[in-house]
Amino acid sequence: MPAITATAPAKIILFGEHAVVYGRPAIAVPLPQLRARAVVSADPFAPAGYIRLQAPAIGLDASLEDMPADDPFSLGVHGVLDILGISRCPACLIRVTSTIPIAAGLGSGAAASVVLVRAFSHFLGQPLENRQVNDLVFKIEKVYHGTPSGIDNTVITYEQPVFYIKDQPIQKFRIARPLTLVIADTGIPSKTAVTVGAVRSGWQADPHRYEALFDQIGRITRQARQALETGEIDALGPLMNDNQAVLQELGVSSPTLENLIQAARQAGAAGAKLSGGGGGGNLIALAANETTQRISQELLAAGAASVLVSNISNTGPLE
Ligand code: MEV
Repeated sequence: MPAITATAPAKIILFGEHAVVYGRPAIAVPLPQLRARAVVSADPFAPAGYIRLQAPAIGLDASLEDMPADDPFSLGVHGVLDILGISRCPACLIRVTSTIPIAAGLGSGAAASVVLVRAFSHFLGQPLENRQVNDLVFKIEKVYHGTPSGIDNTVITYEQPVFYIKDQPIQKFRIARPLTLVIADTGIPSKTAVTVGAVRSGWQADPHRYEALFDQIGRITRQARQALETGEIDALGPLMNDNQAVLQELGVSSPTLENLIQAARQAGAAGAKLSGGGGGGNLIALAANETTQRISQELLAAGAASVLVSNISNTGPLE
């Protein structure tokens, strides 16, 4: 039995994080330079049903039966077996590796689950369809993240830009002109579940104020979609800045993020904002050919742990 490999990208949220958990739209794109990978190989020396999981980035090397039932990898394996109606599978080793930084707002957890589910179902001879992968990984995200909107698993599974509204059919859309983003890591890990939980507490304490902030983000996101579809890139920078101002009011920015966002704007970014859960993690800055290098350098000089330049466009035909 040959080894089976699956890969999936990281993701970047361009607009709408947090508000998307409350039914407003968000826009996310895949980030193909950073990827998770799963390799499933048969283990001819182990008894049938024995599954070993390895993920060096989180120090995991265990047999499935020794793992907690709510571990995301365990949920992925059992989820695939349940969908396929298989009770005993050939012994195998599932190894998950990734270049996506963990707890950085780039969807590392969802990408790891997507590749595991894809490679394992393929190994069993019945590759799941994207829709099934997406549904299963959303279930796993709910156990792991509390109240996710589902945007991470969606953009990572389909590997295409999405305009996403929770509980509605996925809307894929075309980006008329490629964008250059400088993506900078604060180097401060921040769990999405924590910032999503903090926003929920604020919303419970003052629903009117939070609903109004979510509405503002929703409006910004709809304008951004129009600008992306019509190629009005000049409109995007100010919209990113507006979105960041509301995220700050929601309490999910941080002094480190603000400092780096300022540095990017001063270096010529047309707009900059945090991306993902916030608290730490990554920010994105909209660059042009002539400003990309300067923005990258200034971000590093201001303390960014790393920077990555990405050209955002449609990667293929819309499915
Ligand atoms: C995380 O990538 C984006 C958040 O809006 C949470 C979610 O949508 O599940 C912060």
